Amino acid sequence: LAPKLLRGKKLLITAGPTFEPIDPVRGITNHSSGKMGFAIARAAAEAGADVTLVAGPVHLATPRGVQRIDVQSAQQMYDAVLPQAPHHHAFIAAAAVADWRPAQTHEHKLKKVEGGANLAGTAPTIAMAENPDILAAVANLPRPPYCVGFAAESEKLAEYAEAKRRRKGIPLIIANLGPATFGRDDNALLLIDEHGQRELPEAGGRADKLSLARALIADLSKRL
Ligand code: C5P
Repeated sequence: LAPKLLRGKKLLITAGPTFEPIDPVRGITNHSSGKMGFAIARAAAEAGADVTLVAGPVHLATPRGVQRIDVQSAQQMYDAVLPQAPHHHAFIAAAAVADWRPAQTHEHKLKKVEGGANLAGTAPTIAMAENPDILAAVANLPRPPYCVGFAAESEKLAEYAEAKRRRKGIPLIIANLGPATFGRDDNALLLIDEHGQRELPEAGGRADKLSLARALIADLSKRL
């Protein structure tokens, strides 16, 4: 990869899962490892970009030269991203953001035995509220950065991904090809824009996420 393909460009990237608290000790999350988003941040920094990485709870080292902001919930990720977005050339939404959160976060741990009463057999119901769609919100800014979304579909991949691209109003969506990619070091990607599709790796098969990230950054550099 030519070292300075993205010199002078500012990239904002989200990565990892979100954690939506139920009470002080419990919450709802997902299996996103953050590896793809962190690999993209690393590849972008290698290419000379000024990179801000907004990360959900993950166990990954910050790539060299990347400015990292740690968050837990989707709302915190939204609050970190939205004010930053207008100052960036591109926004890459690689995070697996929870669509819903518990409507209420209990101040104290939910107990099975409460005030002497045994609540066994009376499982609580957790009411859910919708989270903001960070990517759609950024894409709807008056002067949005170039927006890239990800799509993890279990069927009709290209069709659902293209529908998602249009619905969110973004120029590029990246679908994860093949079986569950969560936590793995390799992946295969399908890039879909208004003109058509492109597979990475170009030769087919799978590649490690860093190689894919570098190929993606090379592709992105032509779009910015
Ligand atoms: O709608 P869906 O969750 O499948 O869309 C996936 C894409 O949208 C990903 O790029 C993800 O990072 C982004 N997203 C977001 N905020 C949400 C939900 C998804 O930025 N609340």
